[in-house]
Amino acid sequence: MDVNSPRKWDKNYEQGTDGWDLGKPTPVFKRLTLRASRQLVPGRMIVLGAGRGYDAREFARHGFQVTAVDFSSRAVSEMHRLAEAEAPMEILQHDIFTLSEALNHSFDYVLEYTCFCAIDPKRRAEYADLVARLLKPNGLYIDLAFPLDGRKGGPPFAVSTLELLDLFQARGFTLISREKPADSISTRRNAEELFLFQKAVTEIDQRTE
Ligand SMILES: C[S@@+](CC[C@H](N)C(=O)[O-])C[C@H]1O[C@@H](n2cnc3c(N)ncnc32)[C@H](O)[C@@H]1O
Repeated sequence: MDVNSPRKWDKNYEQGTDGWDLGKPTPVFKRLTLRASRQLVPGRMIVLGAGRGYDAREFARHGFQVTAVDFSSRAVSEMHRLAEAEAPMEILQHDIFTLSEALNHSFDYVLEYTCFCAIDPKRRAEYADLVARLLKPNGLYIDLAFPLDGRKGGPPFAVSTLELLDLFQARGFTLISREKPADSISTRRNAEELFLFQKAVTEIDQRTE
């Protein structure tokens, strides 16, 4: 089935073929939310392809103003079911590629985990344009890039760190940090890498006329 169609993802949720779902936030993002690390100051965050919303809720619990987006009605109903009063967040059922231009330059953070590898690889430049337009100047793109194992086919489609660097540096982003997290879940250790990219103050327009 077509990865561009929400029905494909609805089916995965309905049939329990949702092996990406950790049932909890990744320990990598949990660490980023800790006040002690002082790495990220709470701000406005959008989570792309949020699934059941474990990561989104973790940031919301720590004072981030979170918008969680997914185009699967199943994922969205799960986010509503799992919602926590003490971790309020906005839940949007929407295709990330057609998010309203009213959201442009609205977010301090864009967060991604297993969404980039879920979209059609031919749409990766379009995806990078989307991240660039959603972020405020100086905003951060937080990407826990997975899977880095060069697998064939998908989803999940393989992610290459060189491709990521090319996509975002071409749009004026600066690589702030990258690490192979020691606290990845055991089955993904060494198959994922955490990237923090900062958007430039002046936007580079990649569109061709
Ligand atoms: C592999 S799952 C990951 C979910 C979540 N990030 C997690 O780690 O559990 C990919 C998610 O992205 C969503 N998705 C894929 N393409 C999308 C698109 N174009 N717009 C919005 N959501 C999309 C799917 O519905 C699915 O919930």
